[in-house]
Amino acid sequence: MKKIAVLVSGGGTNLQALIDAQGRGEIVNGEISIVISSAPEVYALERAKNAGIPSCVLDRKKYPSSQSMTVALVDKLKSLSIDVVVMAGFMTIVTKELFEVYDNAVINIHPALIPSFCGKGAYGLHVHEQALAYGVKVSGATVHFVNEECDGGPIILQKAVDILPDDTPETLQRRIMEQCEWKLLPQAVSLFCQDRLRVEGRTVRILP
Ligand code: GRF
Repeated sequence: MKKIAVLVSGGGTNLQALIDAQGRGEIVNGEISIVISSAPEVYALERAKNAGIPSCVLDRKKYPSSQSMTVALVDKLKSLSIDVVVMAGFMTIVTKELFEVYDNAVINIHPALIPSFCGKGAYGLHVHEQALAYGVKVSGATVHFVNEECDGGPIILQKAVDILPDDTPETLQRRIMEQCEWKLLPQAVSLFCQDRLRVEGRTVRILP
């Protein structure tokens, strides 16, 4: 059984999707061992508590740099023998110390079809504002491995939705969460836990 750490910073709807998938037996060969938040008093911590999952806070504001926080994070992950790290709305920059230990074992969800509307400044509602301003006809979500390049790691899964004529950033965000993010992230984590993801350069092969 692989041990999963979920990193959060906010509301935690993607964490909830993982918890619900786990409850339905859909995270095959994996178990959420800990939820780690970069801020105190976020609702994601309540979700962990309600599900009986241990949690802890590594308060970004209490660390002088991203690097020092990353080192503390890696220590915590190692002490719990974590196998896979899932960023579910984790709003904190991490540095290379994480990837040195967890190479192709850190998974992130991004609310657009990478390489569109990603990278610096593309977070939260900004992503959907950018997609609507550009006039694209589809957007969606991407689950990818995390490396040192912001939103640049190998893509595991993607799913698209149509953009509707009356969409606002808020309606688009909601549709992408419901139809893409909350489905893709548990699927990708389950595939990882079954050792069904093989990274070949930029391509992730999904084994049968
Ligand atoms: C999601 O849109 C996710 O794609 C992005 O941050 C948001 C987090 O939402 N990385 P939540 O905390 O899971 O509700």
